[in-house]
Amino acid sequence: MSIEVIKSVQTMQHRSQVLRNAGNTIALVPTMGFLHEGHLSLVDIARDTGDIVVMSIFVNPTQFGENEDFDDYPRDFERDLSLAQEHEVDIIFWPTVEEMYSENHSTTVTVGKLGTYLCGASRPGHFQGVTTVVSKLFNIVSPAIAVFGQKDAQQGFILKRMARDLNFPIDIIFGPIVREEDGLAMSSRNTYLSMTERKQALALYSGLQFAKKMVESGEVDSNIIIEKIRSFFEEESNIKEDYIEVVDLEQLAPLKRIDQPVLIAVAAYVGTTRLIDNIIVRSNGTNDTEI
Ligand code: PAJ
Repeated sequence: MSIEVIKSVQTMQHRSQVLRNAGNTIALVPTMGFLHEGHLSLVDIARDTGDIVVMSIFVNPTQFGENEDFDDYPRDFERDLSLAQEHEVDIIFWPTVEEMYSENHSTTVTVGKLGTYLCGASRPGHFQGVTTVVSKLFNIVSPAIAVFGQKDAQQGFILKRMARDLNFPIDIIFGPIVREEDGLAMSSRNTYLSMTERKQALALYSGLQFAKKMVESGEVDSNIIIEKIRSFFEEESNIKEDYIEVVDLEQLAPLKRIDQPVLIAVAAYVGTTRLIDNIIVRSNGTNDTEI
């Protein structure tokens, strides 16, 4: 099947229904485009688990704050199309903002406590934008499976909880973080970085790697871990910490003592670019890449 590009909600809904009626399992990979190997690794997982892979490409305005980068967010549909084709995506759903949000759109999905920690604290309204658009995508594509990346660990937790809480009959699965050769987590926003910033950005990964080793060698005090990561950030003049947190894997609430598997999550501005990264660590030394 050659790749099909669908821009209309109604056409997508109809196409999905026909495919489902014919017995196909649809796997959805939601993205905001400007694809990189991280996105494409999720497509490969979807390919392995579903019959039909649908990728959505939609830069969702409702998840960007007033002073954030919605207008500047990188977009290159032709490039995305050929990468998606190489990875055997069957359908790209590529709606306009007007197609997704009618002028008097007023219904949203709110998140509750899970959305108040980590990125939720520094990006108010962000996760409500994410859950709202992903619910819409779920209703438009009706997949049996949806694939998300651990790169945005909190987003993954929230969406898994949403699918359960709102009874979406969809398996939410996660793919591990795909990194550049030197360890920097791939992100569409990495294109904002100058050459110098690109080097400085590595402090996020280096800090997390060091923290992982400390936990594996028996450090149980979260504050000591946080301070160590902070020292990696402080070595770079151009990095401004947003948060460094050690949280549990159920509620994403901060933990003082590491006596269970934890998510160590960081966010920092490198110049004006906000980057995030994380790692899941077990105190007994087993590194678990699954959320
Ligand atoms: P976007 O940032 O384009 O990411 C799309 C998917 O790719 C997300 O599930 C994200 O976690 C995953 N991803 C990004 N970088 C990754 C990496 N280096 N390794 C593995 N997976 C990676 O996340 C969004 O878009 C949006 O919030 C969206 C869910 C599409 C809703 O608008």
